[in-house]
Amino acid sequence: MIFEHLSAGGCQSYLIGCDDSCCAALIDPEISLIDRYLALAARDGLRIHYLIDTHTHADHFSATQQLARRLKVPVAMHRLSPAPCVDLALDDGEMLAVGKLRLRVLHTPGHTRDSICLCVEDRVFTGDTLLIGATGRTDLPSGDPEALYDSLFNHLLRLEPACKVHPAHEYKGRSHSTIGEELAGNARLQHRDRRAFVEMMRNLNLSMPTHLTEALRTNMSGGKTVAQMLADAAASVPFMSLAELKARIEAAGNELLVLDVRERDAYEAGHVVGARHLPRGQLELRVNEDLPDPTRRIVCYCEFGRISTLAAATLREMGYRRAVALDGGMKAWREAGFPTVPGSKQKPY
Ligand SMILES: [Fe+2]
Repeated sequence: MIFEHLSAGGCQSYLIGCDDSCCAALIDPEISLIDRYLALAARDGLRIHYLIDTHTHADHFSATQQLARRLKVPVAMHRLSPAPCVDLALDDGEMLAVGKLRLRVLHTPGHTRDSICLCVEDRVFTGDTLLIGATGRTDLPSGDPEALYDSLFNHLLRLEPACKVHPAHEYKGRSHSTIGEELAGNARLQHRDRRAFVEMMRNLNLSMPTHLTEALRTNMSGGKTVAQMLADAAASVPFMSLAELKARIEAAGNELLVLDVRERDAYEAGHVVGARHLPRGQLELRVNEDLPDPTRRIVCYCEFGRISTLAAATLREMGYRRAVALDGGMKAWREAGFPTVPGSKQKPY
């Protein structure tokens, strides 16, 4: 078996492949690692056939939908997954054939209703059902401590003690443990009595994960994250540095149209010398009037450099082939000590 373990800020994902057939499956891929997965699969001579999420993640951004579109392979999840983009609904006891490998599904609800663990050869991918020295939490949507008790003690922990445990989260850099090690040393698993276990899980008082609503929105809909929207826009526009813009404003015969896309009060408080004001929210509706020449060289800026990237991408899409975004924003411009002017007076077009 070919086995690759990738980590992104505590989120663990796994690429497993059959060395006979070069067929592979990717488990719990995370959105920031898409290029790494594809590069690793290519390096190892693997073709990914399945994209699997062990459950609906509330704390990280799943890459399954995006990879599925790119690779044209199915997303596999438990049949209770609320995500509408699941192509292959799995149930307890079923197997996925990954070349000669057999990935056996254990339905282990508790962390979420749709949680599964995947057994293959000498190891089990435990998702957030069982972590090294901990268990998944049960206080997020569809979590249930009673169900987690059953999933652990009556299902998962009955695997061979030597079976390796590969969780979906690990924050201390450990690669894996075993079922036997967890049974012996995992503090949460020492509550073998159902009531004591449920009581303990109900009183963990954990803080909510960051990006909870965004993760659930995107993982359940296949929609884009804010970071993806910005990355897509950034990939479609060139940028100009602060120093380059300053030099061009100072140069004689400058033909650059500087466009401030912030709100009016921000523009009036202080803008780049000579900048015209066209807020991002009105961009599409006002371009015909405000920017009649689509061949004009335009540099957009905002406060932090994100909205201006979206604005420049929109302008390019609308035919302004020379629109670029400032690399940085007014905040960085002011911090660099570059000049600004207050007021509402605009340079004529
Ligand atoms: Fe989770």
